Amino acid sequence: MSLKDHTTALAAVIGALRASPKYQHVCDDVLARVALTELTKFPRPADAIKEAKNTLHQIGAAYLIDRPNYAAWLRDIEHGWSADATTAGKATHTERILAHHASTRERLPILSTFYPVIFEAIRDLAGPNGRRSQVESLLDVACGLNPLCRPWMPISSECDYVGLDVFEDMIAFINAVYATWRVRGCARACDCSRPTEGAAGPHFMRHYDVAFLFKCLPVMDMVERGSARRLLDAIRATYLVVSYPIASLGGHARNMAATYEAQFNDLIADRGWIVRKLTFSTELVFVVRCATI
Ligand SMILES: C[S@@+](CC[C@H](N)C(=O)[O-])C[C@H]1O[C@@H](n2cnc3c(N)ncnc32)[C@H](O)[C@@H]1O
Repeated sequence: MSLKDHTTALAAVIGALRASPKYQHVCDDVLARVALTELTKFPRPADAIKEAKNTLHQIGAAYLIDRPNYAAWLRDIEHGWSADATTAGKATHTERILAHHASTRERLPILSTFYPVIFEAIRDLAGPNGRRSQVESLLDVACGLNPLCRPWMPISSECDYVGLDVFEDMIAFINAVYATWRVRGCARACDCSRPTEGAAGPHFMRHYDVAFLFKCLPVMDMVERGSARRLLDAIRATYLVVSYPIASLGGHARNMAATYEAQFNDLIADRGWIVRKLTFSTELVFVVRCATI
C-alpha cells in the first residue's frame, strides 16, 4: 500500500470510529493509536474498523455500566452537595454515580477502608521522617470515575489531583465536579499507554508524591503490548499504588490474583522498589516506594 493510500485508509478508519456514538468522545490520541495499530494488522479499512471498535470496547466502553448522563449526574452532585446536605447524604449521592463505572462500582463495598489503609501503608513506607508530611500532588492514571472517591481519601482540598483517562465527556464531568467541590486538581483526556507523547506528555514530565495505577496495567497492554512497562518507566512519583481486579468483568475469578501478582513482580523486577501488598475483598493492591527518602 502506498503512503497516500495508507493515509487515506487511516483517515477513513478514524472517521468511522469518530462517527460511532459509543466512541465519539474518545480522545484523538487514543483513537489514532488504536486505528493505526489495527490498520497495520488488518489493511482493509472495514476489518480495521471492526477490530478497532473491539479494542476500544475492551479498554474503555466495557467499564461503563450504562450510557453516561453526565449532565444529570452533575445536577445530582450539585444538589447533593448543597450547603445543608449531611455528610452521609453527600456520600450516598456520590456512591450512586460511582456505581456507573464497573471499577468504582466493585470498590463500593470497601470504600470506607480502601484509601485509609493505602495511605497508612504509604506513611509506613515513609518511615519516621516522612510520616507527618502531607500528600501535595497525586496522579490518577486511567482514572475512570475514581477521582470522585476523593471524599474518602485522607488528602486535603489543596492536594493537586490530576486524573487522566480517554473519554473527553467523562473528563469534563470530573472537572465540573471538582469545581463544585472547590478542590484543587484537574482531569485531562490523553493516551497513558504512550506517556511521553501527545497530550499525555506534560502530565508525565512532572513529579508527583503519589501515583495511582488502579486496575489499569493489564488494560494498557491491550492498547499495545509493552505499554504497562513503558508506563512504569515513565512515571515520576515517590509512591505508586498499583492495583488489580480479583475477578473479571464477567465475575470469574480464575486464579486472577496469583496471575496478576506474578505479572506485577515481573514488571518491577530489578527496579529496587520497596513493596507492601494489601489484599481487599475485591482488589489486590501493591503500595510501592520508588525513591529513597
Ligand atoms: C479497569 S478501568 C480502571 C479505572 C480506575 N483506574 C479505577 O480503578 O477505578 C480502566 C480505565 O482505563 C481507561 N483507559 C484505557 N486505556 C487508556 C489509555 N490508553 N489512556 C488512558 N486511560 C485509558 C479506561 O477508560 C478505563 O476508565
